[in-house]
Amino acid sequence: MAKERLLTFVLVVTTAMAVNSPAGEAHNITAVLESLPDYSIYNNYLTNTKLADEINSKETVTCLVLPNAAMATLASKGSPADIKRALSLLILLDYFDPSKLHNLGGGSTYTTTLLQTTGTVTGTQGFVNITDARGGKVSFSSAVPGSKPDAVYTKSIKEIPYSLSVLEISDPIVYPGLFDDGSSISDSNLTALLENTGCKTFASLISSSGVLQTFQSAMGKGLTVLAPNDEAFKAPIVPDLSKLSAADLVALLQYHALPSYTPKASLKMETGPIATMASNGPGKYDLRVKYRGDEVSLVTGIDTSRIASTVLDDTPVCVLTVDNVLLPIELFPNATAPAPGPSAKSPSPSPSSSPSPSQSPSPSLAPGPTAVAPAPAPGGKKKPEAPSPLPISPPAPPTESPAPASSPAESPENQPADDTSMAAGTMAGTLAAAFVSALSALGFIL
Ligand SMILES: *[C@@H]1O[C@H](CO)[C@@H](O)[C@H](O)[C@H]1NC(C)=O
Ligand SMILES: *[C@@H]1O[C@H](CO)[C@@H](O)[C@H](O)[C@H]1NC(C)=O
Ligand SMILES: *[C@@H]1O[C@H](CO)[C@@H](O)[C@H](O)[C@H]1NC(C)=O
Ligand SMILES: *[C@@H]1O[C@H](CO)[C@@H](O)[C@H](O)[C@H]1NC(C)=O
Repeated sequence: MAKERLLTFVLVVTTAMAVNSPAGEAHNITAVLESLPDYSIYNNYLTNTKLADEINSKETVTCLVLPNAAMATLASKGSPADIKRALSLLILLDYFDPSKLHNLGGGSTYTTTLLQTTGTVTGTQGFVNITDARGGKVSFSSAVPGSKPDAVYTKSIKEIPYSLSVLEISDPIVYPGLFDDGSSISDSNLTALLENTGCKTFASLISSSGVLQTFQSAMGKGLTVLAPNDEAFKAPIVPDLSKLSAADLVALLQYHALPSYTPKASLKMETGPIATMASNGPGKYDLRVKYRGDEVSLVTGIDTSRIASTVLDDTPVCVLTVDNVLLPIELFPNATAPAPGPSAKSPSPSPSSSPSPSQSPSPSLAPGPTAVAPAPAPGGKKKPEAPSPLPISPPAPPTESPAPASSPAESPENQPADDTSMAAGTMAGTLAAAFVSALSALGFIL
């Protein structure tokens, strides 16, 4: 085999992986575990909690897998929300294969987990300490001080170099309080939860219209609420809701919920139209998704709304807040998005942050030339989901950095989350690192 040809191949593949293809195509954890009955409970949990979507959307990830007995013990310890958190701590945002585990500089390292990216943890709770003890025993513990190294590496299940490593460990990684932190839908009723999160108008509308009952009866099977905050209802684009008929108001409110458990990471995986609870036929009252890095927006055909925060993630119920009221074209055929300019309600876009690259060729997302409102200007509102600042030094690149270094103006839309770290400045470095990694994997250097 010609060396040059292989080099070219590697370069093309690494470039394509880093830039073009959705990471979801790169690996599929469900497919990896499917044929292995020892991990069937774990695999079911990944599917039901939608963590599989999160894993598949990461370009570089290590999944610490529990065999059935250990997983069953974990499952008995907490609510579905708690278990999802515990499993998120087993998803490392870096690539660790057995040789890397046995060659940790200094014998131990900290690594970021998926739990850290949920924005629901404090201190070092979202980090894991990996230790390569003398004698070759590798253990995993929570980075919370005083945590015991409960989990021991037992074997490698699957390695897809620099993309997905699947390792078996003996026990879950825990820290004190892991099982009491997650808010649960059984702790608080939906209206109270919405009121406490700045969505009083929406809470009162769903209560008075009776839509609350519809939502409640959907909770057993799967429900995702997209709650606009109180400010959103005051925007000029929102028609006078008191002029809507009762049936139209119900449709508008039901448009703000999906009849499925679809957390933010799973929304990103949606490529076509998504049915809402108001959908009464194909193509009716549906939504589309666009995203740029970790910022996910919903497109109605009239307006676009960013998903602001995850208020509750308690399988199969998810409550997200959105910045704008979602206006279905079915109810407001004559409404148009506010023109981007000084008169618009949204922060006036500066030339550099204007919709330029993002608004262009995305035929599947833009139902009409004038229909899609510009995405909120970067920096307009604070992003509550941003991971908390790192208390300790993050692992070195090409690891996904947990720091919210997203630069929405530069990254193209509907790119994998990890691409936030690949915006302009770091692109070359990341590619070079990926290239070198791939080469060394093939034994070309060193
Ligand atoms: C992953 O694999 C599972 C099982 O083979 C399959 O059902 C699912 O559709 C796959 N997901 C993707 C995103 O390809
Ligand atoms: C990581 O875990 C090892 C083994 O328990 C421990 O000796 C070490 O102090 C831990 N590192 C930090 C920084 O907590
Ligand atoms: C839910 O919370 C609302 C608002 O706090 C309250 O009015 C209502 O009584 C509560 N419902 C139940 C069933 O607890
Ligand atoms: C929409 O505009 C058309 C034409 O201007 C008008 O006839 C129609 O009544 C309007 N519909 C609504 C719901 O306002």
